[in-house]
Amino acid sequence: MRAIAMTKPGDVEVLQTISLMRPIPKPKQILLQNLAIAIEPYDCHVRSGKVKVNNPLPLILGSSLAGRICAVGEKVTDLKVGQRVAASPHFRSYAEYTAVGRSQIAIIPDNVTDIQAAAIALSGQTAWQLAEEVLKSSLSTGALLINGASGNVGQILIQLLTDHFSKIYVTTGSTSTTKLKQQFPQVEIIDSTFQLSSIAAIIDLVGNQPVLTYLKYLTSEGKLWSTVKQYSDRRCNLFSMKSNGQSLEKLLAAVAQNRIKVQIAQVAPFNLKNLQTFQTLQHQFGKLVLKF
Ligand SMILES: NC(=O)c1ccc[n+]([C@@H]2O[C@H](COP(=O)([O-])OP(=O)(O)OC[C@H]3O[C@@H](n4cnc5c(N)ncnc54)[C@H](OP(=O)(O)O)[C@@H]3O)[C@@H](O)[C@H]2O)c1
Repeated sequence: MRAIAMTKPGDVEVLQTISLMRPIPKPKQILLQNLAIAIEPYDCHVRSGKVKVNNPLPLILGSSLAGRICAVGEKVTDLKVGQRVAASPHFRSYAEYTAVGRSQIAIIPDNVTDIQAAAIALSGQTAWQLAEEVLKSSLSTGALLINGASGNVGQILIQLLTDHFSKIYVTTGSTSTTKLKQQFPQVEIIDSTFQLSSIAAIIDLVGNQPVLTYLKYLTSEGKLWSTVKQYSDRRCNLFSMKSNGQSLEKLLAAVAQNRIKVQIAQVAPFNLKNLQTFQTLQHQFGKLVLKF
């Protein structure tokens, strides 16, 4: 099969097309013929060397996909060849075929496209777990601040949490303020000069020091969760998404019912040139997706 792998850390030229044997699924895995993959900041950070991993090289990156089942491991009894599914595996989705553990797999509803499913597999699942499994269970009322809400995790978080919090304050990147305001008029866009009264929680999707200036507005029970950085303040927590087909399936159902809108910035065919281009594009409003 054809795959795109990083040969060493560096700029996008370290990504190269390779040819290798199609994976054979282990007993609790299924094999997917990939239909669409999304560009994730994590894969870009690993490729550039900003995030260091110990995996052997060449390494097939790619952490979100939609695919069609073409083989199932002997212990997988509830899925069958031909079904369309999505997942957020740890790497290996920049390839024509990917073997994925059953527990990470979610069936894609008929009215959700491959592109939508790949686009939310990682970022949407992160937002879903933060909203449903952390914030809604531990905090009942008050205002929320999302630092970096114009990105893909932030946009899903706003949609999941609008009804839960009395107010959502957000910070955005340099280029996305107008688009975010058009898409989500219910949020209030602020900067570090803004005086807040009090906030119940902060979600940090950027990992920049200025977010710590907002800690003074937290209520006594208030906490900050960051997907990027562990800060030393005792109120701050590092959040890590745990790839889980059940949470992804609930999210896909919300997309199918039009309760969650997935923003797609650009779609292009899966090949080396397009992957290299998409890995370097900045300031996109929505997800970049490559289609097979
Ligand atoms: N720990 C986990 O399990 C986990 C899971 C998913 C994601 N993550 C990480 O979480 C982060 C967010 O993910 P994502 O998918 O939402 O990324 P994304 O789509 O690239 O969004 C990041 C957003 O932050 C904005 N931004 C940049 N600098 C900012 C600043 N100084 N103030 C306010 N906003 C700023 C960007 O705006 P511009 O584009 O206009 O600059 C962009 O809209 C990434 O670092 C990702 O690797 C971690």
